[in-house]
Amino acid sequence: MVFHEQPDPTDREFDRSLRPATFQEFVGQEQIRDNLAIAIRAARERGEPLDHVLLCGPPGLGKTTLAHLIAQGMGTDVVVTSGPALGAPKDLAGTLTRLRRDQVLFIDEIHRLPKALEEYLYSAMEDHAIDVVLDPGPGGRSVRLGVQPFTLVGATTREGLLTAPFRSRFGIVERLEPYPTGDLEQILIRAARRLSVALEPDAATLCAERSRGTPRMSLRILRRVRDLAQVKQKTTIDAVTAREGLDRLRIDHLGLEEVDRKLLRALIQRGDAVGLKTLAAMIDEAEDTLEDVLEPHLLRCGLIARTPRGRVATAAAHTHLGLTEPRPRTGELPFA
Ligand SMILES: Nc1ncnc2c1ncn2[C@@H]1O[C@H](COP(=O)(O)OP(=O)(O)O)[C@@H](O)[C@H]1O
Ligand SMILES: [Mg+2]
Repeated sequence: MVFHEQPDPTDREFDRSLRPATFQEFVGQEQIRDNLAIAIRAARERGEPLDHVLLCGPPGLGKTTLAHLIAQGMGTDVVVTSGPALGAPKDLAGTLTRLRRDQVLFIDEIHRLPKALEEYLYSAMEDHAIDVVLDPGPGGRSVRLGVQPFTLVGATTREGLLTAPFRSRFGIVERLEPYPTGDLEQILIRAARRLSVALEPDAATLCAERSRGTPRMSLRILRRVRDLAQVKQKTTIDAVTAREGLDRLRIDHLGLEEVDRKLLRALIQRGDAVGLKTLAAMIDEAEDTLEDVLEPHLLRCGLIARTPRGRVATAAAHTHLGLTEPRPRTGELPFA
């Protein structure tokens, strides 16, 4: 498994235990935090449910955390489900009709909501009612069921896959960006305190720098270096231990893991633009993982570029892997 991929069950437990309990504990993303705080306060003053919220951004940046904080800010609780988990219309109908007034319905991976369910959600969001078909086919009957005014919080790693009409039904759309190192240091220091381990500042910096802007990644690294410190019978995680831990995880100074380097090597070896499908097959990863998790960081680091014909490795990728760039063939620009 890719180290920074979707959480496994133990991660989920760990995520939960370290999840900020209040907006004050939520580090960074100030603009988003402020926007949400204002919207929540205004909604509460009016005695209305909060507008529907769409949270977009790569995995591990705090979308689920924010969904819980929104519910907490509204003084309510949250019903959690996800696009892939909602199979048949009756699943969603049940969930919707059971909602209490002002409750938050969190749908994770909302871009994977089956199309047949979108209509349902539309009418629940706007008309506070859904039409449930009793017997399908011509002349089939349906009943109209009421839905309490609620707030839908949707999270997606792929905003582009949502239809425009769906997106336009969210009054609040926020996009989470990767965190600067300073924010990740704070998150790490706070987490270390919660776990009762001593983390030295330069060790925190080192871990933060290699977390590709992602809190979940920072926390996973912390977990591994904590293990290492423990078996080495060290009472604090110092920079030496952190570096050894990172080396053992084979996470380099840009936060790249073996799979990222494998991807770069594959592109370089090909020496030409490679399409998404082919590239996914070459490195034996799912296309989604490639697009959602691997590529954004490599693009940000300037190690790959997207061209109309596919992905290419840049000169920086050669340098990063310690390879020399091939000489461009005459009349051809390198990596154009
Ligand atoms: N801004 C933040 N401040 C503190 N911890 C954070 C922040 N964002 C995320 N985390 C932590 O990182 C982990 C992953 O966050 P999560 O909300 O599950 O991400 P997502 O839902 O976007 O994949 C959780 O343990 C969470 O507590
Ligand atoms: Mg999540």
